[in-house]
Amino acid sequence: MLQQDLLQERPSVLIVDDIPSNLELIEVIVQSEGFTVLKAYHGHKAIEIFEELKPDIAIIDVMMPDMDGFQLCNTLKELAGKRYFPIIMLTALNDKESKIKGIECGADDFISKPFEPRELIAKMRSLIKLKELHDELEHSENIILTLAVALEARDPYTRGHSTRVGDLSREFAAFLGLSVKDQEMLKKAGILHDIGKIGMSEAILRKPAPLTDEEFNLIKKHPIIGEQICSPLHSLRDILPAIRHHHERWDGRGFPDGIGGKNIPLYARILSIVDAFDAMLSERPYRQGRTYFEVLSSMRREQHNGQWDPELLSYFIEMASVMDEGFFSLESLKNIYQE
Ligand SMILES: [Fe+2]
Repeated sequence: MLQQDLLQERPSVLIVDDIPSNLELIEVIVQSEGFTVLKAYHGHKAIEIFEELKPDIAIIDVMMPDMDGFQLCNTLKELAGKRYFPIIMLTALNDKESKIKGIECGADDFISKPFEPRELIAKMRSLIKLKELHDELEHSENIILTLAVALEARDPYTRGHSTRVGDLSREFAAFLGLSVKDQEMLKKAGILHDIGKIGMSEAILRKPAPLTDEEFNLIKKHPIIGEQICSPLHSLRDILPAIRHHHERWDGRGFPDGIGGKNIPLYARILSIVDAFDAMLSERPYRQGRTYFEVLSSMRREQHNGQWDPELLSYFIEMASVMDEGFFSLESLKNIYQE
């Protein structure tokens, strides 16, 4: 408990070395600079400490019995997942081979033995600064994602829409064989696609009758506003085109830019299908929601009407119609719509 309290106040460093005298030397150096020290004499203990105490940085010796420094570096990076966890590796002087191997395992920096204490501290401080920036960025991204979900919660007809579009877009990306990174990006794009509606009046968003030209022109600005809201975040830069173009049409008659065909970015073409699918399934003030099968057959009928990429749409219908084919089951799709 006391150790956990200390960890919250000072940056904590996990030092991993099988030779006690080496480990203690580093301990003295980093402790004198105000870091909290967590020690492990082998990789398995280091993993335990990492999971339990979530240190800010690790210094790992390359040469260790059982699990060597490279394996440990790999494992810690995997466990950290999307969270940034900096690792400095201790190598022998001029050991080029180890450095290359270390980079392949995700190491962030190296210190050669015998090392200069000031060099070690300077490297640690700069990596911890980088980690703080990463954490801050993640925090900002979470705020925007939360805002998007909160925004639609004010309207009972759209509640859950963005989350469902995010989930389903990710499933669709997996079905299409896109990379895990693409799947994650599409999930974020799905959650954020309508965030540009944030400044728009509820009276227009909830209007039970068709919109006037003026109202429609206002609504048409939401993809651009959404793109502007998300643009300061570097981590969202890959999904900006998806947000901007999710209302473009395959025949070029959409908005805001009126681009068509494959000029519309792939993420946006995917979102446009999933967005429409969810909207048709959901109840709207001016229209009752349709059943799952009605929506699918209506999309099938409209496959070549110019709204969507017809090839992508056929894949979507295939995914949505298939039961337990490995990627996606009809049951799990239905579950998304039972919330
Ligand atoms: Fe939209």
